[in-house]
Amino acid sequence: MPDDYRVAVLVSGTGTNLQAILDRVHADPDSNVSVVLVVASKDDVPALGRATAAGVETAVVGMGGRERAERDAELADVVAGARPDLVVLAGWMSIVTNVFLDRFPDRVINLHPSLLPAFPGMNSIEDAYEWGVRVTGVTVHFAEEHVDAGPPILQATTPVLYADSPDDLRAKVRELEHDLLPRAIRAFARGGVTRHSDNPRRIEVVEEDE
Ligand code: GAR
Repeated sequence: MPDDYRVAVLVSGTGTNLQAILDRVHADPDSNVSVVLVVASKDDVPALGRATAAGVETAVVGMGGRERAERDAELADVVAGARPDLVVLAGWMSIVTNVFLDRFPDRVINLHPSLLPAFPGMNSIEDAYEWGVRVTGVTVHFAEEHVDAGPPILQATTPVLYADSPDDLRAKVRELEHDLLPRAIRAFARGGVTRHSDNPRRIEVVEEDE
């Protein structure tokens, strides 16, 4: 097992995906992944309590009425202080610019609750439901300044049944997320994620049991 693989997680809300990372990789004695920092965009979010309960260092970097570039410079300094190998946007609901992303090339990933490029934006589960798609899912992708546009790393699907309510669909998507994001982090930690040399949008992912 290689040395500790250091992960910083950025959150804005409930933090159920942070909890999945804490439970399924950080707390797993067979994993070399350590969550070393959780940064929230607001100081009153439940995700911060989850981090504290797990003994993980926390920080809050809000917008504070300033330009995004200025916020992103501070955010990058705070995250860089934790020396992360990977930065995970897990329900981080604020656009990040290249001021932040350029400090961590190929090391920032985002979780999105749809099969991108379908249904980008803030209400993806509801949008997919209203559109009437028969299949939806979740995407873990490299973060780029253009929101929800970076190349997919892993995707997972679920059928949308006629009998499903919006809440049913939300629950299905959440369950997929809680599996997929830890899987992606494990793949990075074992050095299993590579961009294709000819087309950097094509990502090879090698997971443990392959
Ligand atoms: C998750 O469903 C995540 O995919 C979504 O926010 C939720 C956070 O839940 N992210 C986005 O929509 C990003 N565009 P959580 O706080 O319980 O992990």
